[in-house]
Amino acid sequence: MQKQRVFSGVQPTGNLHLGNYLGAIKNFVDLQNKFECIYCIVDLHAITNRQDPKQLKSNIFETVASFIASGLDPEKSIIFNQASVSAHSELAWVFNCVARIGWMNRMTQFKEKAGANKENASVGLLVYPNLMAADILIYKATHVPVGEDQKQHLELTRDIAKKFNNDFKCENYFPIVQPLISEEISRVMSLKDGKKKMSKSDDSDYSRINLKDDKDLIDKKIKKAKTDSTPIPTKISELKNRDEAANLISIYSNINNVSVEKVLKEFGGKNFSTFKSKLSESVVEKICPIGEEIKKLLKDEGYLTGVLEKGAKKADLIAKSNIKEIYDIIGLAKFS
Ligand code: TRP
Repeated sequence: MQKQRVFSGVQPTGNLHLGNYLGAIKNFVDLQNKFECIYCIVDLHAITNRQDPKQLKSNIFETVASFIASGLDPEKSIIFNQASVSAHSELAWVFNCVARIGWMNRMTQFKEKAGANKENASVGLLVYPNLMAADILIYKATHVPVGEDQKQHLELTRDIAKKFNNDFKCENYFPIVQPLISEEISRVMSLKDGKKKMSKSDDSDYSRINLKDDKDLIDKKIKKAKTDSTPIPTKISELKNRDEAANLISIYSNINNVSVEKVLKEFGGKNFSTFKSKLSESVVEKICPIGEEIKKLLKDEGYLTGVLEKGAKKADLIAKSNIKEIYDIIGLAKFS
């Protein structure tokens, strides 16, 4: 039996929002009690797009501060940034040689991000999934919590693991990772358009709730959130084609850890204004303390650096020993 180990990566961004929290970080916090967990700020993935160096650095701090403020515990989990552990890049190169160009070309995320001008996209963007596979497999992680949009990359990680194990005749060397796509993780949608994901790049700040928003702003944003004129339904099936209503109800359910059925039992038949004020209360109660803590942590760069250093040390210990093993399997030697 392989040891069960969770790995996940988050791109460094400033200004994390409710979608990042409910869609990923909240689940990471829960997993800490069930698995050995490794959480990585994937700064090397971030540079597949052009980044402003100063901004990139501050985004790394902002992300680690948001992790900790949300309840990730550096004593329980390994929290670090990808660039600190060089074995990620080393294994990514190996995987560049294992994976096939055809596999890369099939990735929908690449197609979407490269757009019409594929020839002009960075090579890094094309081989992005190989680095992601390296992130996971350098720790021989067995479980990866991700959103729907990363499922294809996880499939590819499995294909790479299988091909490596097969090519180098080392059956079961790399584990075949399992996605952890929990029912409770909801995709949080924009408050302005229930068909679009909540996103930091949306022009309207009213489309999202940022973790650092204060109470007044959260109240205002929820009050202004788009709904329809029909009262809240009593059955889940009646939420179909009511994307905005479904989104607000799912946020309420997720933030309070109650099922959608229960929410509908409580609010079914009522109008949105009653519901929205309750929703606002719950969001404020959960998010404002996190926002306050982020602001406090960001003032203490020494502490955040310490967390990243400690995490990098622990990660590097595992990764270094595994890359040696992997090089040995391939016939490469490390004399340093
Ligand atoms: N590609 C992931 C995303 O954009 C981030 C990521 C990088 C990741 N490496 C990973 C997620 C390894 C899970 C495991 O969300």
